[in-house]
Amino acid sequence: MSSKSKLCVLISGNGSNLQAIIDHIDDGKLNAEISLVISNKPNAYGLTRAENAGIRHLCLDHSQYEDRESYDQALADTLSQENPDCIVLAGFMRILTPEFVNKFSGKLLNIHPSLLPKYKGLNTHQRAIDNGDEEHGVSVHFVTPELDGGPVIIQSRVPIFEEDTAGELAERVQEQERRIYPLVLEWVCDGRLTMRDNKAILDDNPLPESGYASE
Ligand code: GAR
Repeated sequence: MSSKSKLCVLISGNGSNLQAIIDHIDDGKLNAEISLVISNKPNAYGLTRAENAGIRHLCLDHSQYEDRESYDQALADTLSQENPDCIVLAGFMRILTPEFVNKFSGKLLNIHPSLLPKYKGLNTHQRAIDNGDEEHGVSVHFVTPELDGGPVIIQSRVPIFEEDTAGELAERVQEQERRIYPLVLEWVCDGRLTMRDNKAILDDNPLPESGYASE
């Protein structure tokens, strides 16, 4: 079997995506190890999940840094020491500087709770409801300097029902998140997925703009 890929996972909160990745590795479906989990918030529950799984973890608290540049420099220094194959943003709620993104270009993945390019940024579930959309979903994409704008790898769609609250919709979306993020990481760890010329390439084929159809 080829050697394990090294992942670093960045979180800010609950860490349900982190947990899905941990479980996928434990189930033998993902040939990877998580070498480090980093949170920008000291009280993120994802840090407890890392602790429980015996994974190295630390908090780089953004409130302790003067500005975005110095925070991202510290983050980049920490990650460079790890030299990961892939940096997994899993609910990491910070905008990254172009310098940071360019340094790790092609290795940075993000999961965003909308059918990109719709609803970049925050409050995606409420915005989809307010707009009267009939469907919503989640995208996994490579990170480029444009916020939530990098090439989409995969999307998963869910229906929006009439009485849905943002919380109910978020839960439906997060069920899909826990399914597709580990799958994308399988592709990465098996050497099947790369970014070239601002496109996501799977098995040497550029993926369409909406990514691999998961349904
Ligand atoms: C997830 O729903 C993820 O899509 C979203 O934060 C949540 C984190 O959940 N990410 C973003 O909004 C990024 N812009 P988790 O901490 O349980 O994995």
